[in-house]
Amino acid sequence: MNDPAPTGRSPVGGPPIRLCRLEALPEGTARGFVIGEGGARREVFLHRDADRVRGWRNACPHVGTPLDIAPDRFLTEDGAYFLCQSHGALFRLADGFCIAGPCQGKSLTPEAIRLEAGWVLLTG
Ligand code: FES
Repeated sequence: MNDPAPTGRSPVGGPPIRLCRLEALPEGTARGFVIGEGGARREVFLHRDADRVRGWRNACPHVGTPLDIAPDRFLTEDGAYFLCQSHGALFRLADGFCIAGPCQGKSLTPEAIRLEAGWVLLTG
């Protein structure tokens, strides 16, 4: 994984940010990214399901902390759900809806993602 670290955050409506090459995100895996600094800092993560890539804000709807205490550990062992490592909330992969845990009934926040020329771009 030798992609350059994403730097800076585009203003809304600004140019997309290259997160990684698609091949750096194997099928069935998830990977986190930190973008920007200070007040502009935000964390997102990507999940690849076959050729579909979805992006999510890396903030649990329970208390707002990142899901992955250990870097890039976003999935349950069987890869069937996203897991918040803080208190064990489980989220569906397709829509980020929490099906178990302290934030049951809430959802992860989707991020706008686009694939272009082999790159995964953050567009929002
Ligand atoms: S912070 Fe995610 S379940 Fe509590």
